Amino acid sequence: MKGIILAGGSGSRLSPSTDSINKHLLAVYDKPMIYYPLSVLMLGGIKEIMIISTPEAKPRFEELLGDGSSLGITLKYSEQKQPNGIPEALTLSKHFLKNDAVTLILGDNIFYGQGFTTLLRHALRNHKHATIFGYRVKDPGRFGVVEFDHRQKAISLEEKPEEPRSDFAVTGLYIYDNQAVKLANTLKPSARGELEITDLNKAYLRRGQLDVELLGRGFAWMDAGTHESLFDASEFVKITQQRQGFKLACLEEIAYYLGYISREQLYKKGKAMKKNDYGAYLLEIADRKHTQQYWDTIDRNPMLGLVE
Ligand code: DAU
Repeated sequence: MKGIILAGGSGSRLSPSTDSINKHLLAVYDKPMIYYPLSVLMLGGIKEIMIISTPEAKPRFEELLGDGSSLGITLKYSEQKQPNGIPEALTLSKHFLKNDAVTLILGDNIFYGQGFTTLLRHALRNHKHATIFGYRVKDPGRFGVVEFDHRQKAISLEEKPEEPRSDFAVTGLYIYDNQAVKLANTLKPSARGELEITDLNKAYLRRGQLDVELLGRGFAWMDAGTHESLFDASEFVKITQQRQGFKLACLEEIAYYLGYISREQLYKKGKAMKKNDYGAYLLEIADRKHTQQYWDTIDRNPMLGLVE
């Protein structure tokens, strides 16, 4: 299983904040937006990840995250020259994916909640062809919308419908088998001139190969694509972190608990950043005596193991 984070786009909805910086480098409270989707892939156990962004932003991401070795993972980078649509992430990654399955996540999507890692790993292990994640929202017309029958089997999908057939948005997290590249190649641009991820999901639906996992009310899912939602996401992260003392999407913490980096590496990184809160947090984790107890709180389920 490989991972892709799509972090290109024009960011025009956040202009002027994004006129000279890629949206996914903006801070969601205390860390860059891209940390959040990257943390999701890491928690899923995915170690080979491609980050796709614009030609201008690609060097900035490389500067921020490097080759991933400091997190015990492998990061590759690629460019999407124009925002031609989300499915292009798959065709652009053809050589990276080879014959592997893929988990694609949008760079502005944030997932959080007790049991999320377990649910994700379960979905990854049991995944057959395509798995998408539905989440109930008040304003489904802003998203891809999935309608399903009483057995939770998807029966229709629509992109930003004027009259949504359900309250369930399709989140920006998709697991696909290796047909995805081929199917993405057959898509035609929609009326708004973009290849639509909903059309790819429809192709799987027509083949009877689409599964939907629902994220219940105990989960938070946000996209941070507008000023309002970016502010809300920052506020959510701030309040959750301050209350519990745990950071969301702290990549080094995840890498440490997954056994990808050593206590010494964590300590070194923390020391280099010790003047700020993020570095102090890393040092705090490195000093913890009972790691297991803390690991449990970020939802480890050793029975589920890692995906290959
Ligand atoms: O967030 C979930 C929603 O994301 C889904 O419910 C929709 O079905 C899906 O179409 C998408 O809708 P958005 O309107 O939020 O898509 P947006 O154009 O904002 O792009 C989502 C992310 O993907 C954003 O971080 C920018 C990036 N992107 C998007 C496009 C179209 C690219 O990097 N390249 C692109 O060509």
